[in-house]
Amino acid sequence: MLPLLVSQVSKTFHPSKRPVVEALKTVSIKIEQGKIHGLLGPNGAGKSTLIGMLSGMLLPDTGKIEIFGLDIVSDTLEAKKLIGVVPQEVTYEMAFTVREVLHYFSGMHGVPSHERNARIEAVLTDLDLLDKIDERAKHLSGGMKRRLMIAKALIHKPKFLILDEPTAGVDVALRQKIWQLVRRLNQEGMTILFTTHYLEEAEQLCDEITLINHGQVVREGNLKDMQTEFAQNSIHFELFDINVPHLAEVKSIGVEFEYPLTDLGPDMHALTSHYTGNIKSIKSGAASLETIFLELTR
Ligand SMILES: Nc1ncnc2c1ncn2[C@@H]1O[C@H](COP(=O)(O)OP(=O)(O)OP(=O)(O)O)[C@@H](O)[C@H]1O
Ligand SMILES: [Mg+2]
Repeated sequence: MLPLLVSQVSKTFHPSKRPVVEALKTVSIKIEQGKIHGLLGPNGAGKSTLIGMLSGMLLPDTGKIEIFGLDIVSDTLEAKKLIGVVPQEVTYEMAFTVREVLHYFSGMHGVPSHERNARIEAVLTDLDLLDKIDERAKHLSGGMKRRLMIAKALIHKPKFLILDEPTAGVDVALRQKIWQLVRRLNQEGMTILFTTHYLEEAEQLCDEITLINHGQVVREGNLKDMQTEFAQNSIHFELFDINVPHLAEVKSIGVEFEYPLTDLGPDMHALTSHYTGNIKSIKSGAASLETIFLELTR
């Protein structure tokens, strides 16, 4: 049974006195068991709208969403037991302590009462938040609130974890910790779907990606296959100072640059001698996810 099958789903918003927004136009996505799947796309592409529907917070206008074969609209409660969702917006129960919030959610998700304390401690230990167990949620820092949101999503040991920009506004060390946890959960059998604008992180983590733009899937599939397909005969490099005069053939791609490769030795010599002392990194071969992203969403 697939963790997620989205078939021909669409969603249009009708805000009062403002133009309608076609947030998703017939989107279909399939996620296989045990994968880490990146849902990527520019701001406003429709990612959070889709995630809102996967978590049962929004209803699709058309189409069908199945979580392990359960229809999210007609079998909402059963389907929700199998997923943990970390929404993009920080939501936390202002007046309650971390312990109280997690007790509430473990009860809501059917964690047996004799298991709750141990479960809460285990999740908070994983997220390095155990020392804040009796702190009120409203007194947590931004990064701690984000960790509490992840703790809420994990409290019932879901089989499928969905994270909407879990590392936005989070410091480098915590970002690495979150991704380590995601990797470990995946190795233990959890299927993961996440969104991020940090494409290097996605590149390191994802088996597969779905790229959406203007409410439509523009590309989906195995990341490595895509990188091979987009690989060009070129050298990718990054500079310390981007204001130096560029070689005529050099093209800029996001923060990186690209130099067409015809003959490795002379081309590399031309590049390194021209940018001498100014090259931060050099890559060749497979295209970076940033290159693919820009190419497909341009
Ligand atoms: N409740 C709503 N009412 C009206 N329009 C909405 C609503 N929710 C989302 N939209 C619109 O739907 C479109 C898709 O928004 P969505 O939040 O899904 O984008 P996103 O891909 O998650 O972007 P980001 O990367 O910035 O988080 C946007 O144009 C947004 O303004
Ligand atoms: Mg979003």
